[in-house]
Amino acid sequence: MTTIPKIMTGAYLPGNGTVEFKEYEIPELGHGEVLIKTKSSTICGSDIRCIYHEHLGKGPEGYQTGMVAGHEPCGQIVATGPGMRRFKTGDRVVLYHISGCGMCNDCRRGYMISCTSEEFRKAYGWQRNGGMAPYMVAEEKDCVLLPDELSYSDGAQVACGFGTVYEGLEKIGISGNDAVLITGLGPVGLAAAMLCKAMGASKVIGIEAIDERIEISKNLELRKGSGIKLFDAVLKAGPDNVAEVRALTGGMGCEKVVECSANANARLTAVQAARKWGKIVLIGEGGLMSPDFAPSPDMIHDQKTLFGSWVTNLWRMEELVERIVRWNIHPADLVTHRFPLEQAPEAYALMASGKCGKVAVCFDEELTV
Ligand SMILES: NC(=O)c1ccc[n+]([C@@H]2O[C@H](COP(=O)([O-])OP(=O)(O)OC[C@H]3O[C@@H](n4cnc5c(N)ncnc54)[C@H](O)[C@@H]3O)[C@@H](O)[C@H]2O)c1
Ligand SMILES: [Zn+2]
Ligand SMILES: [Zn+2]
Repeated sequence: MTTIPKIMTGAYLPGNGTVEFKEYEIPELGHGEVLIKTKSSTICGSDIRCIYHEHLGKGPEGYQTGMVAGHEPCGQIVATGPGMRRFKTGDRVVLYHISGCGMCNDCRRGYMISCTSEEFRKAYGWQRNGGMAPYMVAEEKDCVLLPDELSYSDGAQVACGFGTVYEGLEKIGISGNDAVLITGLGPVGLAAAMLCKAMGASKVIGIEAIDERIEISKNLELRKGSGIKLFDAVLKAGPDNVAEVRALTGGMGCEKVVECSANANARLTAVQAARKWGKIVLIGEGGLMSPDFAPSPDMIHDQKTLFGSWVTNLWRMEELVERIVRWNIHPADLVTHRFPLEQAPEAYALMASGKCGKVAVCFDEELTV
């Protein structure tokens, strides 16, 4: 039994492209709270876009300077407060990364991401301490049990990355009938490819702007050593992308498109490269649509449907961890770099450069994998 310290060192993001460390107290646990020993804490594109370079959000959407960063934590419960209903010490858990009020309509649907309570909605790593520290306090109601077959670095990606993508894919529906286009091959786009392949998509085409990511994407497999590539084709972002995708799909375009870049041109490609009756889901966040978007020819006359998708809900996360095991896939295969907490500055700088797959800050046994 390890003794739990009273003080720990955690990392926060001052908003000027650096990472700072400071000491945090490990508090007494309140009713319904658990203490998690962090094992893996992955970095999301949103951390870079909204927090690392500058603090973009405001109010309930804003990062509160000094909060322990990291909204993709996974670890093991090492202590529990009073009033536990299900979870216990020793359980390995993933967190739904936003703690909601539990009472508004969004929370009751399991979508704490869009909880409407300004007072009680708090995202881990934004308005309450997150995963870039050896321990974190979480609410039992936000925990999802991590199956034994999955590692902590598999689990870390479930909430924000894979969960977000799974939600989007469920909206557009993926099956063996589909050729799928994925625009933006950061960790979210890569997760989309892995899930689409696992769900049976018969062709997966990716588009990416950064050469290093194109190379990483070309080499990724559905399961390591299986020889089944995640992508059937990976294209460099450019003005001919729509024609290139059509050429790869018998002139038709893709049945399903998953937009994960947030880039205005890629969004236009996503809409235009969908075939008639195609379905497109927008996941990449921020920015605008290309001013060249023309709704009539680009969507209306071709009977296309456009979805927006924000994170996921709690029951779907539980369903996802079960299916990830059934599909025998490992989100951790997308992790190209692991760093100890002391090297969090290098980890964030690498993710900001884009010359990587998923980047993880790891602890204990997860560091030596
Ligand atoms: N909707 C949600 O709930 C949700 C949840 C998590 C993340 N996100 C967002 O999803 C996006 C992806 O996340 P990520 O972690 O992979 O971030 P990321 O920034 O690492 O990935 C975006 C990728 O898009 C690429 N790109 C840029 N311009 C392009 C173009 N014209 N064509 C093709 N690719 C292009 C970039 O080079 C980069 O690799 C981010 O905007 C993030 O904020 C949304
Ligand atoms: Zn995220
Ligand atoms: Zn709520």
